[in-house]
Amino acid sequence: MLVSLQTVIGMAEKGDYCIPAFNVYNTETVMGVIAAAEEAKAPVIIQVYPRLLNEEVGYYLCPTVIAAARKASVPVCFHLDHGPSEWEVTRALRWGCTGIMLDGSAHDFEKNVEMTKHIVEICKSLDIGVEGEIGHVGSVNDDAMSEFTDPAEAAEFVKKTGVTCLAVLIGNAHGHYKKPPKLDIERVKAIREATGGIPLVLHGGSGIPDEQVKAAIAAGIRKMNIGTDVCCAFADGTLESLNDPARSLAVDLFMKKPIETVKKMALEKIKLVGAEGKA
Ligand code: 13P
Repeated sequence: MLVSLQTVIGMAEKGDYCIPAFNVYNTETVMGVIAAAEEAKAPVIIQVYPRLLNEEVGYYLCPTVIAAARKASVPVCFHLDHGPSEWEVTRALRWGCTGIMLDGSAHDFEKNVEMTKHIVEICKSLDIGVEGEIGHVGSVNDDAMSEFTDPAEAAEFVKKTGVTCLAVLIGNAHGHYKKPPKLDIERVKAIREATGGIPLVLHGGSGIPDEQVKAAIAAGIRKMNIGTDVCCAFADGTLESLNDPARSLAVDLFMKKPIETVKKMALEKIKLVGAEGKA
């Protein structure tokens, strides 16, 4: 069933676990994630980067996600990931997203507050929760990481904007880590405390050692984003199909392997974050 961001985040908060948020790119990645969620009886978030909302891709991908979520036997939220402005948010709402991220973290604090608060107000009329970001989560290829999220600043941000959940920078980054990251778990606890318990979001979930993921969830992470691992699983499955001498070139049959490898990866993540059996 298609549900809102606040519904799945509320479930995680109540049960002290974390919702896996998978970035999808095409029909096959959607199929792999939904198959895993149904098998594990887990609530999930399916999310898209703003570039996928354009007419060429969004026209096909967004109705696919909505149809898959409606048909699914488990709660599925369709979320916009890293929306940079009202333009992309409006587009995502038009495509039927039930969760919105407004990422104003590249701007200064006041501008970030102003942009996020505005989007929270728009989304409130549609009963759709908003994820904000404070402390800019960059890429593993950045020369230097920007400063980690400050608990006092996070508290002020949450109070002024009314976000449903908050993405934080605690040693995480997007892409495959060159060496294992060291998450600042004490900071997660401090942010939770300072904000009065806002559900926290961990971006860059591909490649964080399992023990650190578990510690971060115990400290208050309620949504973990997984993008690069979806791409790698899909690529691995495609290569397996290519290298299989018995493969069929009929595209639907050729794609069975990539769907299966995405499903396998998604199942592992669902179990890791404690969402199995929670639907
Ligand atoms: P990874 O690609 O590192 O898993 O990060 C995904 C993400 O955080 C999307 O917002």
